[in-house]
Amino acid sequence: MSKDYKNISSQQAMALEDQYGAHNYHPIPVVLSKGEGVFLWSPEGKRYFDFLSAYSAINQGHCHPRLVAITREQAGILTLTSRAFYNNWLGPFEEKMTKLFGYDKILPMNSGAEGVETALKLARRWGYDVKIVSPDKAKIIVCENNFHGRTTTIIGFSTDPESRGGFGPFTPGFVVIPYGHPEALRSAIDDNTVAFLVEPIQGEAGVNVPPDGYLKACREICTKSKVLMIADEIQTGLCRTGRMLACDYEGVGPDILILGKALSGGFMPVSAVLADDEIMLTIKPGQHGSTFGGNPLACRIAMEAMDILIEEKLADNANKMGELFRSELSKMNSPMVKTIRGKGLLNAMVIEPFKVKGETKAAWDVCLGLAENGLLAKPTHDHIIRFAPPLVITKEQINESVDIIKRTLKHFE
Ligand SMILES: Cc1ncc(COP(=O)(O)O)c(C=O)c1O
Repeated sequence: MSKDYKNISSQQAMALEDQYGAHNYHPIPVVLSKGEGVFLWSPEGKRYFDFLSAYSAINQGHCHPRLVAITREQAGILTLTSRAFYNNWLGPFEEKMTKLFGYDKILPMNSGAEGVETALKLARRWGYDVKIVSPDKAKIIVCENNFHGRTTTIIGFSTDPESRGGFGPFTPGFVVIPYGHPEALRSAIDDNTVAFLVEPIQGEAGVNVPPDGYLKACREICTKSKVLMIADEIQTGLCRTGRMLACDYEGVGPDILILGKALSGGFMPVSAVLADDEIMLTIKPGQHGSTFGGNPLACRIAMEAMDILIEEKLADNANKMGELFRSELSKMNSPMVKTIRGKGLLNAMVIEPFKVKGETKAAWDVCLGLAENGLLAKPTHDHIIRFAPPLVITKEQINESVDIIKRTLKHFE
């Protein structure tokens, strides 16, 4: 007998997840059953501002009508052929993306982690075929506090014990340096170094914005040393920080660009890696791929998602609304708030741990309070709350959200 899951209550939905799902997440206890623009609703009809945007995948806002329409249309025509054959939307998508970002070629995948894995494989292959590094000696430099996904290779070079602990042994060939220090990159490079993988702003680490000029300096070091610069713009890209790419702030063009998340506006997993021929053509037929990568449904959704970002000028809105958000929050002068930082609509508030009735409280408790008051945000680490609403947010909505944040913090004070 099929149950009436359509009318499931929040309590029932949470109980089912707890009982039958793996416990690899610790969600805020809120169930969501509907979304539109910057808002989400629970099955009981409570409305929330979404200040996480599915970790920046919903830059275009929930259920953007243009993406709903394109998905409906293409889903009724053709969804998946595999890359065993050509399809009629992959080429147009590839042309659009390469022209937009200024690269010779693109390689489509699905999740962000797959995009990162693709970039790592490309860099190694280029290292052996073009830079002529001895077999199996290629080194890739990464940064402390990085977050690039959850595969075993990627967590192997994470510095977060929570991410990597108990999952070894790991893939060799990675060197970790401090983030934000170009000199550390310079000294870590040797003849076997093929690439430097970097997030232009470290999102998961707590919105760590590097010093001005960092990316530019790294670019110069990479060029001089014949090392590929790989920018992971999965979270920072596609207008989130107030520019199409966060690298645009410093006029930096990485050799390999990784995109994901908002590339589909949240409709399905779509990621992509862009590079020029010298790099991309080192991988030959049969050496890399994915059943779903480049499927016609994904391609059409991604093309529309890109058009929305550009036509609705979402980079510009992210920039303006981000400035308003930070300036309003910084007027607050709360003893609980240590710092507010960010770029565009990728922001973080660092919370000073505080005591309520003798009990130490932190970001998690603030997020519970925010949810109670109608705003959803998630801590990243114990003391940092990320604020990253959909980029379609308006001035009035920013002001209303700031009021909720202020009210919530006041309550704890
Ligand atoms: C910078 C960065 N890279 C990679 C990933 C992994 O993406 P996915 O979760 O789609 O595999 C994320 C996800 O948060 C990310 O923020």
